[in-house]
Parts: sequence; structure tokens; C-alpha cells
Amino acid sequence: MTSIALSSARPTKISADAVVVGVTAADGGPRLLDGTASVDKALHGSLANTLRDLGATGKADEVTKVPMTGNTKAAIVVAVGLGKLAEHGTTAYREALRRAAGSAARALAGTRAAVFALPVSEPDDAAAITEGVLLGSYAFGQYKTGNGKPPLERATLVASRADGRRSTAALRRAEVLAEAVNQARHWVNTPPRDMTPAAFAAAAQQHARGLGMDVTVLDEAALRKGGYGGIVGVGQGSANPPRLVRLAYRPFRAKRHVALVGKGITFDSGGLSLKTADGMTTMKCDMGGAAAVVAAVVAVARLQPRVAVTAYAPMAENMPSGSAQRPSDVLTIRGGKTVEVLNTDAEGRLVLADAIARAGEDEPDLIVDIATLTGACRIALGTRTAGIMANDDRLRDQVHRAAERAGEPMWPLPLSPELREKLDSPVADIANVGAKWGGALSAGLFLAEFVADGIGWAHIDIAGPAFNEDSPFGYTPKGGTGAGVRTLVQIVEDVADGTLSAMPRP
Ligand code: BES
Ligand code: MN
Ligand code: ZN
Repeated sequence: MTSIALSSARPTKISADAVVVGVTAADGGPRLLDGTASVDKALHGSLANTLRDLGATGKADEVTKVPMTGNTKAAIVVAVGLGKLAEHGTTAYREALRRAAGSAARALAGTRAAVFALPVSEPDDAAAITEGVLLGSYAFGQYKTGNGKPPLERATLVASRADGRRSTAALRRAEVLAEAVNQARHWVNTPPRDMTPAAFAAAAQQHARGLGMDVTVLDEAALRKGGYGGIVGVGQGSANPPRLVRLAYRPFRAKRHVALVGKGITFDSGGLSLKTADGMTTMKCDMGGAAAVVAAVVAVARLQPRVAVTAYAPMAENMPSGSAQRPSDVLTIRGGKTVEVLNTDAEGRLVLADAIARAGEDEPDLIVDIATLTGACRIALGTRTAGIMANDDRLRDQVHRAAERAGEPMWPLPLSPELREKLDSPVADIANVGAKWGGALSAGLFLAEFVADGIGWAHIDIAGPAFNEDSPFGYTPKGGTGAGVRTLVQIVEDVADGTLSAMPRP
């Protein structure tokens, strides 16, 4: 990963190949941000005009490279746009810094060392820039034989007012978070033949090891024995048998306990309710929720907040075969409820039902599940925004605020009660598909049935943002995005400090 250092030296005096400066979109054209004075001076005050002549506007994600001529160490200036800048200190302001740092870092692939002279007036600003640089530098090159541009090697952040301990903690948190997001991206990007349930479980176990977590992996035989009919049913069509991973982080003197549950379908062909060829091209991303919870609990174990966290990752491959479950089969979920499978492509809710029911047995205060659950959520909110549902409106709003602070777009969706009866089955307790419209909500209502009484529960549908099929933007690459990781860690931290309080029990 790219290495990050802080310096209070002038950007022009730091040895590097490039220096990054920020530009906003003002009424009269691009305007230089604070921190650019010495760079501009080295160019005899011409930088703003040069940028305008080159057509720069300062809009978000815009990157303009300008050769350095004066007395500076770096050979080029990389001017990055931040758009119309929000007020300093707001979440939108920090997200603008994060995005700009990410765009610049992407444009600097193939470069050894860069100075980031973006404005830092408090530790959170430096943290946002650090996250942006580390996330923007991510590349998935493992399966390429050619040698593409290596990511930026070293970044030095100019932070004249960075005060000691607070900065160190903020920067370390930023690094831990970025590593976790990049890890989740890596797991999502890894082809499904190499990311089978067994391989994914082994990777999760390996990452949890050494962090003092309690690790349990149930294999197919243990899942059958334990009554996990959903995970077994979805996994039975595949040559790669299913797993359930449980990772428990138990700090000293925790008052609260949060369970994180992530959908881990290593490939979703739809099963016998087979998807179209087009519909399954991105379905290696269907374990994005599990990747997020495993990466998040690893980050939590490194940051050590005083909240107990248990992560559950039900893993299965959804394939059609002679042994696959059929539409109209009835499964018994952990805890005894029965489900009529009307569509084998609505498999995520089946594995999540088992895992949510199991999570409830630990009696946590809060269960947060995260899943690439429905195409309907993508249709509703687009490919950048996740949907949030919850069994309590205040809880849903507090999760939403955590996401906002983490810099992840999410939006509340209702659990419309009238849709519940459409899930009624003539043969089982519930069916796995319901009304034609509002598919994201029906899926949420289905999951709600498996949440034990008296536990706060929130559901995050990341079918939109988990996988980026478009061009990279800001700090988001093509492919796996690591969606949800930062929000999950923020939720745990918010529970630790009481910001997130909407849970039934004290
Ligand atoms: N994994 C898909 C949802 C999905 C679609 C995620 C597109 C990311 C991008 C999920 O298992 C699925 O197939 N859902 C069905 C449910 C339907 C059969 C009720 C869907 O959304 O079509
Ligand atoms: Mn499916
Ligand atoms: Zn799926």
C-alpha cells in the first residue's frame, strides 16, 4: 500500500515527483485553495491563469497537470478540482477532500512520490486526505501478466498545523479504514473460482487470527447439523460447499454488543431460476456484504473501541445443477421457521435469515446486516447510493448519519407493512418472494421476520454501490468498491461513544 507521511515543510521544499494542489469552482473560474501559495509563487503567480487557459474549471474530480518551471523539487503540479466547496468542518467538506485526494492519487499511478498540498486545518482533514490517497491508489493487478502502472508509492501530506497525538490517532484510523476497504475490494474482485466459500472462509480466518478474535467456521456438515436450512439449501447446487463464519471481537468492559451480518454469495447464477448471461456478469460481487463485515470487524479489532462486535458471514455459491434446490422446495431456517422457495434467485435472504437468526442467539443490542440484496434497490437509488431499512426510525436515521460521516451515500427506505402479506405462502410460514413492486422493501420485510424480539435491527442494501461497472471516480475504482466498510466501523464507534443510541435495552 502507498505510504503516508506528514510534513510541515513548504510543499515546494519537499522532495517529490509531483505536487498536488486543490482548486475550487468559483464564479470567475478555477480558484486556488489555501496551501497553494508557495507553489503558485514558484510559478510567479501564474497558476490560476494557466489552469484557466488549459480549460480547468475546478469541478469535482477534474485533474489538470501543469509542468513546474520555477525553483521547486517536483516536476509537475497536479491541480485537482473540489467543485463548489462546502463549509469547512462539514461531512461534505471532508468528502470533497477525500474525493479530490483520490482523483489525484489515481492520476498519479506510475509516479513514485507526491506531495499533497491540500488544506489541512484539523486532524480530520488530514484523515480524509489520507483515506482518499490510500483508496484512490488501490489497484487489482494480480491476474494481469503485463506490467501496468504501479500505484503511487509515497504520499507526503502538508499539514503545518497538525497537532501531535490527535493527528496520529486520526491518521492511524484512516489507514486502518482504508486498508479494510481495500481488502474488501480485493475479495470482491477475486474471481469466484478462487473465492469459493471455503477459500473466503479461510481468508477471513487468516485475517482475524492474531487480533485476538474468537473464530468459528461451520462447514456443510455442521450447517446441516445446526439446522441452517437456508445456507444449506442455497449451497446445495454447487460443487463448492457453503460455510458460516463467525468472528467475535470482545474488548474489556464493553457495555454494548453489535452483530454485523453480511451476505456472502461467492457467485450468484440465480440457481435454477437462472439469471440471463448479462445478469450474471457482475455476480462475483454478491459476497460484497460478507467482505464488508469481515473487513469491518478486522478494522474494529485493530482500533479497539469498547463495544463487543460479532460478525457473521454466511457463504454459499448459488448454482443450478441436479442437486440444486428447486422453486417450491421448503427450507427450515435456523430456529425453526419454514420458507417456501418460489425463486431460487432470491437466495440472499435465505442465507441471511439463518445468519440473522443465529446472531440473535448471542443477544446483541443491535444487528446490522449488509447485502447486495436486490436489483430493485439499484433501480430505486442508482448505483452509488445504498438503501437503509430498520425496525426503528430513529435507529435508521442514526445509521444514516453514521454513513454520512463515513462519506458513504445511503438513503432511508420504508418497510411498508402492506407488502408483508404478499410474502404469505400457502404451504410454509413465509415465501421468499412477494409483491411485484418494491422488491427492496419486500426483501427487508422478509429479513425482519428472523430478527429476535427486542433487538434493534438495520438492513443496508448495497446492490447499487458494491460494484462499479462505470469509470472510476474520486477514490472509487472500477469493480469492487468496498461499500459499507467505513459505515460499519463508524456505526460501531458511534455505539461506543453513545452517538448511536436507538436500541431497545440500556
Ligand atoms: N444478487 C442479486 C441482487 C443484485 C442484482 C445485486 C444486481 C447486484 C446487482 C439477488 O440475489 C437477486 O438476484 N435478487 C433478485 C430478487 C428477486 C428474484 C425477487 C432481484 O433483485 O432480481
Ligand atoms: Mn440472486
Ligand atoms: Zn444474490
